[in-house]
Amino acid sequence: MKFQDKAFTLKDGREALLRTTEETDAEAMLDYLRVTAGETDFLSRYPEECDERYSLEGEKAIINRINASENELMLACFVNGELAGVCNLMFNTFIKTRHAAKVAIAVVKKYWGQGIGTAMMRELIELAEKRDGVIQIELEFVEGNARARALYEKLGFRITGFHGNATMLKDGTLLNNYLMTKDLKKR
Ligand SMILES: CC(C)(COP(=O)(O)OP(=O)(O)OC[C@H]1O[C@@H](n2cnc3c(N)ncnc32)[C@H](O)[C@@H]1OP(=O)(O)O)[C@@H](O)C(=O)NCCC(=O)NCCS
Repeated sequence: MKFQDKAFTLKDGREALLRTTEETDAEAMLDYLRVTAGETDFLSRYPEECDERYSLEGEKAIINRINASENELMLACFVNGELAGVCNLMFNTFIKTRHAAKVAIAVVKKYWGQGIGTAMMRELIELAEKRDGVIQIELEFVEGNARARALYEKLGFRITGFHGNATMLKDGTLLNNYLMTKDLKKR
């Protein structure tokens, strides 16, 4: 899916641009994946797993596949041309689950607290609201991710499920994941 470019202002007054990623962003995307993976324990990968699993050609193919898809969107936020954050929207396609969409998001740490997470999530929610038949949005967060939880609760998500010991860090620490759901104003 493609997204109509949209500008907004960060809390510190800088201009930001929301737009779909393109093939030419593949290298920046790989850097972004590696950097964000190293900045928090709350994402599903470690930095070295990005290098092992993603190549430049592979990333280009992922971007092209998502852009051509009717059911997936990868939306990025750029500040002064630098990739500051990315979020994903996925509409389920099987009959029993196509009433729900899934979202994921990560912002580069130096841009946290500037309103990027809120701006991107609001766009995803609006797109899901416009989609026929979709009545809820779902996501998962790792125990302890207070910043993400606060963002999601502010936008109307509530905890609806618990995934015990879903995450194990390298040092053996086990963390629970929580499922959150946002009901859309459709029923
Ligand atoms: C979670 C994340 C996406 C938030 O993005 P962000 O751009 O910093 O979000 P915003 O600036 O829009 O802030 C969103 C809300 O977070 C909350 N927040 C801000 N600072 C906070 C802090 N120190 N502690 C707890 N909550 C905080 C506030 O409720 C804020 O809303 P407000 O500005 O209206 O008060 C970002 O921190 C991130 O990418 N973290 C690492 C990856 C990750 O955890 N992804 C989510 C996986 S489920």
